[in-house]
Amino acid sequence: MISTIGMSREQIEKLIESALRFKRGDDVSKPLAGKSVALVFFNPSLRTRASMQVGIYELGGNAVVLEPGGTSWTLEHREGTVMDADKTEHVAEFVRVLERYCVAIGVRTFAALKDWQEERTDPVLNAFAKYASVPIINLESAMHHPCQSLADMMTIREKLGPSRKRVVLTWAWHPKPLPMAVPNSFALAAAQMGHDLVIAHPPGYDLDEELIKTLGASVEITNDIDAAFTGADVIYAKSWGSKEFYGNTDQDIARRAQYRGKWIVDEEKMSRTNGAIFMHCLPVRRNVIVTDGVIDSSASVVIDEAENRLHVQKAILAGLLGG
Ligand code: CP
Repeated sequence: MISTIGMSREQIEKLIESALRFKRGDDVSKPLAGKSVALVFFNPSLRTRASMQVGIYELGGNAVVLEPGGTSWTLEHREGTVMDADKTEHVAEFVRVLERYCVAIGVRTFAALKDWQEERTDPVLNAFAKYASVPIINLESAMHHPCQSLADMMTIREKLGPSRKRVVLTWAWHPKPLPMAVPNSFALAAAQMGHDLVIAHPPGYDLDEELIKTLGASVEITNDIDAAFTGADVIYAKSWGSKEFYGNTDQDIARRAQYRGKWIVDEEKMSRTNGAIFMHCLPVRRNVIVTDGVIDSSASVVIDEAENRLHVQKAILAGLLGG
């Protein structure tokens, strides 16, 4: 499970149905009994780490959490490197040893926001996939966060039913550039589910061109945040960095300064929606991305959305490893 690319709407629906069975308590199976799953975190996490650990436990399994450079050795992923600098172990050995103990490996490896052309290829995640003979589960890479986007689709389904909705993914101002895995995966999954997708961002903050092409013709892209909110059923806020400024954080910070206070989800914008729900993957900066008034309102579903990470990931694990 590297991304949802290639998944049909029916496959996503089936996964959501499985997640809902886990959530309702209708499925209490233990397909991971006696099995261990490795969770490798190059970056911090609350939701992904806790929900994966709990989910693996609830499926009868054992989670092995590793943090390269912290609780395990520093890792090199490039091929042919003379490892005479700061990296102690190569992914080639790390993965092939780990899979002698574990039936799957989850990996979190964010973009460093230094080199867009390189990072858009997800080099670290792909190095894991190259050497692994067990399933690799993407726990958020430079380009994709499928566990999040599938939980997001489950949340929309739960809150608004199965019909097509006007789903708005809006960029929001944040003091520093962030990776674009969440918006990429959310946009992809929303399009796969047949929603009317609107992506709103300031000029220069386009998502990956190749990814946009996979969304199909029905996606609307706008630089007008006010127009985007009108009639929306779902507002999904996220900040991300400009591809133009990968490697130049200060330039991105200077460029985005003009959007502070305008590209924020507030009560006035929400009042122009079709009674939209407010979504965010979390963690979120209050009164930067979204006002207290919105995130604390009945429109906000962010805690249910975070809970659904647990149920969706159990469905993913059961689907991958339950046979
Ligand atoms: N949404 C999400 O992935 O949260 P964490 O970074 O806390 O795992």
